[in-house]
Amino acid sequence: MASRILIIDDEADMLLLIQRMLSDSDRYEVTATDNPTSLSAMLATASFDVVLTDLKMPQRDGIQILEEVKSHDETIAVVLMTAYGTIESAIEATRKGAFDYITKPFRKERILQVVDQALKWRNLRQENLLLREKLEGRSRFPTLIGGSPAMRALHLQIDRVARTSATVLITGESGTGKELVARAVHSHSPRKDKPFIAINCSTIPEALIESELFGHLRGSFTGALRDKKGLVEEASHGTLFLDETGDLSLPMQVKLLRLLQEGEYKVLGANAIRKVDIRFIAATNQNLPEKIRRGEFREDLFYRLNVFNIHLTPLRERAEDIPSLAQHFLHKYCTLHKKEVSRFSSRVMAHLMEQEWPGNVRQLENTIERGVIMASGDEVRLSDILTMAPDAGAPCSASPLEPGEEIFSLPFKEAKDRLIEEFETQYLTKVLARHSGNVSQAARESGVKRQYLHRLIKENKLSSRSFKKEDSEEEPS
Ligand SMILES: Nc1ncnc2c1ncn2[C@@H]1O[C@H](COP(=O)(O)OP(=O)(O)OP(=O)(O)O)[C@@H](O)[C@H]1O
Ligand SMILES: [Mg+2]
Repeated sequence: MASRILIIDDEADMLLLIQRMLSDSDRYEVTATDNPTSLSAMLATASFDVVLTDLKMPQRDGIQILEEVKSHDETIAVVLMTAYGTIESAIEATRKGAFDYITKPFRKERILQVVDQALKWRNLRQENLLLREKLEGRSRFPTLIGGSPAMRALHLQIDRVARTSATVLITGESGTGKELVARAVHSHSPRKDKPFIAINCSTIPEALIESELFGHLRGSFTGALRDKKGLVEEASHGTLFLDETGDLSLPMQVKLLRLLQEGEYKVLGANAIRKVDIRFIAATNQNLPEKIRRGEFREDLFYRLNVFNIHLTPLRERAEDIPSLAQHFLHKYCTLHKKEVSRFSSRVMAHLMEQEWPGNVRQLENTIERGVIMASGDEVRLSDILTMAPDAGAPCSASPLEPGEEIFSLPFKEAKDRLIEEFETQYLTKVLARHSGNVSQAARESGVKRQYLHRLIKENKLSSRSFKKEDSEEEPS
């Protein structure tokens, strides 16, 4: 993500010059204005990392700018630009929280250096804030479990964008937490006491979506028996969450574009144009640029939505979050199902860590819920999640095991372990036979990692070699 820099100076030449100095690097996204009174509007629509402002301007001085930026977000780095002779007040400004000042005229190297340092300061400052909250045992985002670098970066992004009204596009695979993140953005925004309204663009029938969004007047179409308020109106002054935006039809995309662009819409059956003040958050698990290429998604709408992109990392790329997520769901479902299960067996945890989780956090959550329901003691055991979790990529025999009678006279735990062993052996034998001992293919089909399958094979005292056909390729293990 490029860092966002805002430059404020009443002299247009100066703005141009600085913009040019910063434009070499694609690490910066530069916005410039010669009107210092537009600051609050700008802070509300975009999230800036560094503000470079002139000290002496007729409409407003740099110290006032500094104060406004700092009250909006004290982690934004403010750098004052000053001509010789006003250094006194620049020094005064650093006492009031400015990151630094720079005297005009300056060279390109100098400004690049100051901006770089300011960005480093900004990142540190934000990380420190989050760290301090963590140490004090309070997280600013208690609903978002996980402390991986990806999750920490996510906290920073939410924190930054929540303060603004900028439109957010949340992308990521199914089950990664897009809706959860949308709610977190809303609940940390100045609109938090206003409604958060979600609409799922893929589940509402095409014919109804317009009336759902914009409302209708009685008699505006067959079946419209009374006036109906639209979700847009309900979300007024709050946040409208457009879930599964990738599924919107092209005609609806046009109407949405108008709403986003002008803040205007029409109630079905009415002539008057209505205005709204809404913060939009959209989410999709589809590849929108790809849809644009296929002519299924409007490019202009994409740019309107993609003002601030938050991309969620798949669970398999942040496996270190699995233990804390699993613990969180264990607690959640014990409470819900009134059970007293306090931990996972070590085999369960190892198993959870090894999975690919194509359905991401949602799939993990479902697996843990089943485990809690199935658990018979105070521990979730491997058999509790295996027997019923085909979607977790867990081995699941097509024809259930038929245990011999003798197993029922063993102590319960022993019987269960024995059954699991038998099941594992059977499962492995079948899948390896199907793939002539090719462990990679077998792992892919079983939905587990190759290393994990190797371990299971070893634990079950099998050998993939014994399944090899004469002509099959040799596979390193
Ligand atoms: N970091 C997290 N901490 C706690 N719970 C999480 C986290 N991420 C996701 N979840 C939970 O996982 C489930 C799926 O999350 P969510 O519905 O937000 O996913 P999604 O990305 O919108 O999925 P889809 O694309 O399928 O709609 C929810 O129950 C949510 O509470
Ligand atoms: Mg969702």
